[in-house]
Amino acid sequence: MADGRPLIVVSNRGPVSYGLDADGRRSARRGGGGLVTALRSLVSHHEVTWIASAMSHEDRLVSREAGGEAIEETARDGSPYRLRLVEHGTAEFDWYYNVVANPVLWFLQHYLWDFAYRPDLDQGLHHAWNEGYVTVNRAFAEAVSAELDARPEATVFFHDYHLYLAPRLVREAHPEAALAHFVHVPWPQSDYWYVLHEPIRVAIHDGLLANDVVGFHTARWQRNFLRSAADLTDAHSSFSQASATLDGHRTLVTSHPISVDAAEFDELAGSPDVLAAEEEIEARRPERLVLRVDRTDPSKNVVRGFRAFERYLETHPEAHGRVGMLALLDPSRQDIPEYSEYMGAIQRTARGVNDRFQRAGWTPIDLQIRDDFAQTVAAYKQYDVLLVNAVFDGLNLVSKEAPLVNERDGVLVLSENTGAHDELGEWALSVNPFDLDGQADAIHRALELPAAERRRRLECIRAHVREHDLRAWIEAQLADFDRVASVTRA
Ligand code: G6P
Repeated sequence: MADGRPLIVVSNRGPVSYGLDADGRRSARRGGGGLVTALRSLVSHHEVTWIASAMSHEDRLVSREAGGEAIEETARDGSPYRLRLVEHGTAEFDWYYNVVANPVLWFLQHYLWDFAYRPDLDQGLHHAWNEGYVTVNRAFAEAVSAELDARPEATVFFHDYHLYLAPRLVREAHPEAALAHFVHVPWPQSDYWYVLHEPIRVAIHDGLLANDVVGFHTARWQRNFLRSAADLTDAHSSFSQASATLDGHRTLVTSHPISVDAAEFDELAGSPDVLAAEEEIEARRPERLVLRVDRTDPSKNVVRGFRAFERYLETHPEAHGRVGMLALLDPSRQDIPEYSEYMGAIQRTARGVNDRFQRAGWTPIDLQIRDDFAQTVAAYKQYDVLLVNAVFDGLNLVSKEAPLVNERDGVLVLSENTGAHDELGEWALSVNPFDLDGQADAIHRALELPAAERRRRLECIRAHVREHDLRAWIEAQLADFDRVASVTRA
């Protein structure tokens, strides 16, 4: 379709963040994480105004220089788009991002708590909710409303768990606005939401139900939302029609797994930066390479992945000196104690495995903690096994990106709790992310599969991702949207 329609994309993290280069000149750096990577190419197909938080010092200057209005930006492929950076107070942003969104909502939605000990709902959380999460959502809603005043026909496309309250606020100011929200993380079962205070859990559902469409990556999260909307609010959910109706407003609840822009990865694979990084990997790589690429996030299950690799080495002495794991980890959310503690656990575990098994010329786990996209794509080309063992993951884009450019008939070992498993599971080796022996065994089986079978599986994944690409995902969103618009505005 790619009809170039006006879209207002709203996400906490923007497609770029500004900083200063070595010469002190302002430069734009790609925003990190799966969401932004996937959405960046939206701007090539549509007339996009992107609203995001000003996160760096330089972002705040850019926002101020523009008087809080949008600036004109250009995407990597030359497509123009407008970028509106919303500046928040430092404390408000801290409460919103470092107290509510990540340690509470992210933890809740990925089932990361050990309930005997966590969480404690205290005054701090109340305060952070009221003064941080609510305040930042209001600032986003005001920015969206200002854009809608100028362009009432634009479709607003909210993203993720940072912005659950904004749709209701926009709806109040613009009752006729076209609002859609995509939730990139899992939606847990109803009971889990009962951890939160009633006003908070109701406000989250109520905010989402102000949208015309709410999207998830898989039917599993979609069903959970339909259920919890009915359990926690006065909404009526229809599973057959995939909709929830609250106070006469109907919200279509859909599932469409996001994907990637295959052409972008084809091009990246041959780029000079990637080729240079690949030379380095090739020079150091073991005979067989097990790769993992993640943010240092507890939901990604890095520590258990290392332990599973340790089990594999315990039971397969013939692999010593021959098989190694490369872990490319992007440091994430380090102002949050749970994340910095997890980073420590990652380092300690890798160290423990290496101390136990390493010998001259072979380090079992090559742990590299930094954000280096060229190195990531180079490693995608080089793996024999790709380990994606997330505890829970809304989708997991690594499992779609890496096979596109892999050159060694690499096998995907994939957690059954990732959204991507619904699509790719039949060509991957599925693992239960809590089962260490199962993961160790899957690594072994992946390495032992006959070459023709490895190739077949890789090619099937590739064909699937190329067919169900990012463009198809965007079209599906817009088609849902048009379906709703034709019913409600008929
Ligand atoms: C996940 C979330 C995104 C988030 C990204 C990076 O992919 O779904 O909303 O932007 O992680 O996390 P960060 O906190 O660095 O933006």
